[in-house]
Amino acid sequence: MRKIIITIDGYSSCGKSTLAKQLAKKLNYTYIDSGAMYRAVTLYFIQNRVDWLAPEKVHEALGNIHLEFVQNSLTGLGEMNLNGENVEHTIREMIVAEKVSEVAAVREVREFAVAQQKKMGTRKGIVMDGRDIGTVVFPHAELKIFMTAEIAIRVQRRFKELYEKNKNITLDEVKQNLELRDYIDANREISPLRKAEDAIILDNSHLTHDDQLQLVMQWVEDATMAHSS
Ligand code: CDP
Ligand code: CDP
Repeated sequence: MRKIIITIDGYSSCGKSTLAKQLAKKLNYTYIDSGAMYRAVTLYFIQNRVDWLAPEKVHEALGNIHLEFVQNSLTGLGEMNLNGENVEHTIREMIVAEKVSEVAAVREVREFAVAQQKKMGTRKGIVMDGRDIGTVVFPHAELKIFMTAEIAIRVQRRFKELYEKNKNITLDEVKQNLELRDYIDANREISPLRKAEDAIILDNSHLTHDDQLQLVMQWVEDATMAHSS
């Protein structure tokens, strides 16, 4: 079957990366987690005390950041490496989640990440998730999905994940973080979170992992057929 580009945008913690990984596995596509790049830049800024509101400091710091997805031989998935160090787990911590949306709103940071993301799409057979993938990174993608789920459900899902690693985390803390990030992401000046006009909405509040995959596989088939002539 001809390969296409699939974009998945949407709010925090609604299941974008879960769906993207399911699709990549089923279709033998490459999954790219664009959020991991913003999280890694944020981690670097925190560790090196970079003031992201000072353009010259941001410019200098970005010159020292090398991001790379290195394939995990067991899972087959790319893991985020920051200057040669695997930070896949560290970037999911709350200390990064608390700042990432502020950092991702900085123009030069977005230009830095988007330029690399566009290069990754020169080959088809890509599924990339994020906030601006269907609108800015791959505006000509063959299949665009805009995901959403009820806030209470998203909070429960993310809380469950974080609680496994940190028993001190509270539901309220997770809720505040998701709401704040959604607000900043949807209201920033540069490439805010928006549904692309030609994106299909997927509300997975009450869908299981299998349900969502089955539904979207049909969309993939349709998009592939529509673009193969
Ligand atoms: O997985 P989760 O929904 O928590 O977020 P993520 O995809 O890891 O993204 C973390 C943050 O990076 C988002 O809240 C956005 O601020 C930013 N981001 C972005 O601005 N543009 C993207 N394409 C991807 C992420
Ligand atoms: O990438 P994003 O932040 O949008 O979300 P995710 O990390 O893929 O999913 C957040 C959590 O929701 C994960 O623990 C998923 O297993 C869970 N999830 C779910 O329970 N039901 C779905 N239909 C999709 C995701």
